[in-house]
Amino acid sequence: MEYTLVTGACGGLGGAFVDCLAARGEALFLTGRSAAKLQTLAASLRERYPALAVETCACDLSDSASREALFAYADEKRMRFSRLVYVAGVDIQKAAEAYTEAKIVLQSRVNLEGAVSLARGVFLRRGEGCELLAVGSMSAGCPMPYFALYSATKKGLEQFWVALRTEVKGRAKATVVLPGGIPTREDIIENIKTHGWFGRVSALPPAKVAAASLKAVARNKRKKVIGGWNKFLYVLEHLVPLPIRLRVIAKIWGKTQKDAF
Ligand SMILES: NC(=O)c1ccc[n+]([C@@H]2O[C@H](COP(=O)([O-])OP(=O)(O)OC[C@H]3O[C@@H](n4cnc5c(N)ncnc54)[C@H](OP(=O)(O)O)[C@@H]3O)[C@@H](O)[C@H]2O)c1
Repeated sequence: MEYTLVTGACGGLGGAFVDCLAARGEALFLTGRSAAKLQTLAASLRERYPALAVETCACDLSDSASREALFAYADEKRMRFSRLVYVAGVDIQKAAEAYTEAKIVLQSRVNLEGAVSLARGVFLRRGEGCELLAVGSMSAGCPMPYFALYSATKKGLEQFWVALRTEVKGRAKATVVLPGGIPTREDIIENIKTHGWFGRVSALPPAKVAAASLKAVARNKRKKVIGGWNKFLYVLEHLVPLPIRLRVIAKIWGKTQKDAF
């Protein structure tokens, strides 16, 4: 049996991907940091979809030994993968001088290193015909003062995925999606509100983002900004000179401080 490996499965957007894939009857291999949360999620899926194949394995994506243990578990069960949906991400919003060493490592590893490692692991276990989907962010479109490492890691993820797509061309599909705001956690909902009109038009429900992202990778899109307004804003923002963009972003994003969850 071939599984879709979903990271960040217990999170807001990850949960939407899980719902969408479960409704399609796709076998799921779900991961996140908490074994208890994963078991609860799997139990609720089995209740709703009794015929659905669901496997879970807790993994700290910032830890290479934990990532190796995830694949060792899959290998022991002789699991193969038809798709990777890399949703896990850490978003720290504060001045770079206020970062701690531990949070620098966590954010860099989960947002970039973990994604590279899992893409390789899934591709090597399936190769031909698999779909590799990464959730990037519109934040990668411009350097973001007060969201600097997040936007830099998402840019790195985007660049890696676009390059990977060329390497696996004809053998696998690889797509990076760039959503705008998604009202998942309370702090993100508050953030979207503080961004006023821009926040409101840019935000899309998790279910819509998940469905559009799965469609994009099925069509082997290189990079997909999710949502009509976001496509327009993405083009528009690149027409504004960088110093102005940086000033506006610093003013808006400097208003809030938040740490990793
Ligand atoms: N919400 C937005 O406005 C927005 C906009 C653009 C892009 N995105 C991207 O969308 C993705 C999902 O975000 P979300 O809004 O759904 O936030 P979320 O609910 O906080 O989900 C983040 C997920 O990342 C996982 N994660 C964090 N650290 C991890 C680690 N060390 N090891 C394994 N998993 C880890 C968490 O898993 P556990 O807590 O279960 O371990 C959680 O499920 C992220 O990549 C984010 O950057 C979000």
